[in-house]
Amino acid sequence: MTIPRRKFDTLIIGAGGGGLRAALQLAQAEAHVAVVSKVFPTRSHTVAAQGGVNAALANVLPDNWHWHMFDTVKGSDYLGDQDAIEYMCRAAPRVVYELEHMGVPFSRLDNGKIYQRAFGGQSRNFGGEQAARTCAAADRTGHAILHSLYQQNIRARTHFFDEYFAIDLLRDAEGNVLGALVLEIATGEPLVIESKTTLLATGGAGQLFRTNTNALINTGDGMAMALRAGIPLQDMEFFQFHPTGIAGKGMLITEGARGEGGYLLNGEGERFMERYAPKAKDLASRDVVSRAIYTEVQEGRGCGPQKDHVLLKLDHLGVDVVSKRLPGIRETVKTFLYMDPAETPIPVYPTAHYTMGGIPTNRYGQVVVPEHNGPEEPVLGLYAAGECACVSVHGANRLGGNSLLDILVFGRAAANHIIEHLKETRYHRALNDDSVEQAMARLTRWDRREGSETIDGLKRELQTCMEKYCGVFRNETILQQGVDKVIELEQRLQNAYIKDHSKVFNTARIEALELENLMDIALATVKSALERRESRGAHSRVDHPDRDDAQWMRHSLFYKEGRRMDYKPVRLKPVTVDTFPPKPRVY
Ligand code: FUM
Repeated sequence: MTIPRRKFDTLIIGAGGGGLRAALQLAQAEAHVAVVSKVFPTRSHTVAAQGGVNAALANVLPDNWHWHMFDTVKGSDYLGDQDAIEYMCRAAPRVVYELEHMGVPFSRLDNGKIYQRAFGGQSRNFGGEQAARTCAAADRTGHAILHSLYQQNIRARTHFFDEYFAIDLLRDAEGNVLGALVLEIATGEPLVIESKTTLLATGGAGQLFRTNTNALINTGDGMAMALRAGIPLQDMEFFQFHPTGIAGKGMLITEGARGEGGYLLNGEGERFMERYAPKAKDLASRDVVSRAIYTEVQEGRGCGPQKDHVLLKLDHLGVDVVSKRLPGIRETVKTFLYMDPAETPIPVYPTAHYTMGGIPTNRYGQVVVPEHNGPEEPVLGLYAAGECACVSVHGANRLGGNSLLDILVFGRAAANHIIEHLKETRYHRALNDDSVEQAMARLTRWDRREGSETIDGLKRELQTCMEKYCGVFRNETILQQGVDKVIELEQRLQNAYIKDHSKVFNTARIEALELENLMDIALATVKSALERRESRGAHSRVDHPDRDDAQWMRHSLFYKEGRRMDYKPVRLKPVTVDTFPPKPRVY
């Protein structure tokens, strides 16, 4: 079979904020850039980001990037790489002003400046009073940013392959990444895209968990492609549970609701966060608030007939504030709970939200791996940015408002590095046909018509398993059971089939490929969690309740081959300022 081929300078896989910010930078530099997206670009998951993007603009309260850096390092439970965090926090005001000039309709203060709200884990003066650092477009910030970036890309003539699914990376014998095999979803036709550089910007893997805030598309595709190409995943044990998903359903209720003055109540009507975080209270960082809610429920102080959630109270803010600052969540709560949050508190519970780990990169977006236990080397031609990458600015716990910032800063940084690389790379390298055949084999495997397992059934079991064995609190026994269960499910996936091909739409095959990806990411997550025997950030081990800097101040690396773990040091040295040394983390 002859597969059609297209050639570009750069292939970007994923059309969320990271992919589109990178594509824009490249297209404006006159690079020939292709963006492959499995959904229409403005349906990418960035569209769901609510509360805002952090930048020390000091529009509402005094602020500076160095305080932002301190909060991010502390929020990461000291596992974040301080050179990358420094770079991100310094660049933040610039990327936000760029967005403003691209036409992002930020909410405004009376003086016309960009509106900024308080978010969790933010402080002034290195741990002092609450800061207000999150630049917001009401509670639809991601929507505003994604649409503006898409329009700018259309104007800059970025080439889009809408509704194409990436199967696997293509490499030559020397390990250079030379593009990807992709599939046009509507027709089922494969296409080889050859590129001098490839950027993975495929987002996270929230679909690992039954209850989550993520779109159905968040199946960790880029991370799984990297694993299959022999690249390890870093710090996968750190999965963020957002404290306020709608109880039992998972839809996100933005942290901005607490930033605007909302607060949490237990079944006894108590503002319980005062016990867990006496200073920051409801605006402690997410890992702290999620554990507090979970503990309240476990200890019998939950709300409702089953005492299985807590309440987020907003009604005291008044209808005007709720409808002006939080119109999206008002609509969501009305739609899914048939009630008005401006009148009635919202039942909430922690829900899977964000993949802190991912493909290891440096702060230029280059994918880097340790070479035979030696120093890190870039994988030639391969870049990653955003939630699928681990640069690592979030370490063990991400601060709210830093994910939109991450995609913008590192999408742009990766593009700038690619632009320099392209100046020295005039010609395409020859593609190895074996690589295309291997990628095609992944696709044709799903032509099988017989078996005893269904994709849907296995996906449900995987999500339930991850929720049960790899949730907010963990221990050795349940994590080992989780590893065993994921391995069992992986084996059963070999016996899955797609029902009668002639009758099902081609998306059934895509769902099978996505489930393969999720299985790989699940194993990376639960195995990394089993091996890290300490508690840090979002990884809370009841059998190892303390942070152990002597043993565990290091990043984990999970390799698919042999399900092997390795570790590498945290980069503690920023470039222009002093290190923030690890301290006990209290809010
Ligand atoms: O709560 C939120 O609006 C989520 C923001 C984030 O994850 O950064």
